[in-house]
Amino acid sequence: MKVVKKTIEVQIKDKDFKLFISESEIQTEISKLAAKINNDYAGKDVIFLGVLNGAFMFVADLLKNINLECEVSFIKVSSYKGTSTTGNVHELIGLVSSLKDKHVLIVEDIVDTGLTLDKIYSMIDHDEPNSLEVVSLLYKPDSFKGNHPPKYFGFSIPNKFVVGYGLDYMEQGRNTSAIYKLIE
Ligand code: IMP
Repeated sequence: MKVVKKTIEVQIKDKDFKLFISESEIQTEISKLAAKINNDYAGKDVIFLGVLNGAFMFVADLLKNINLECEVSFIKVSSYKGTSTTGNVHELIGLVSSLKDKHVLIVEDIVDTGLTLDKIYSMIDHDEPNSLEVVSLLYKPDSFKGNHPPKYFGFSIPNKFVVGYGLDYMEQGRNTSAIYKLIE
């Protein structure tokens, strides 16, 4: 019998976190999301725009399940310090090719207040894409106050701070296969 070692608690700096969403739950949800996207975007000119840093793992795993002819690129914004959103979104970097007439899917790790997304949306909309939607692994509907809820999301979660699978606490904890929740 194969023994699988599972980390159920992690410590990052001054905080403790416990297992919240396992690697297999994440991967199962990602294949379902990818199946919907493969279906909805069949035959379309699609570009996936991953939002760094947090979405790097999600983009990698999602795209392994996407069978469309598509482009993949990354953009970066910076707005978040510690465990609460500041609401200040700075510039968008990394957009090189034109998005005009393309079907753009922004790929986020998490949508919390949705303010980052609103800013990204308005900047990308200038490029006149054919369509613009969001796919996010996690969505916190209770703290959402933006104008663009994600069309596709993997997990709707309570308004708690989470880390792992790309998400950080003070820039650490991104390098896990599962997602962990802050122990308060
Ligand atoms: P917003 O509040 O939707 O603008 O979220 C902005 C960014 O905050 C997200 O893209 C994440 O990088 C980060 N963020 C929001 N909630 C969490 C969390 O629970 N853990 C780690 N990062 C988070």
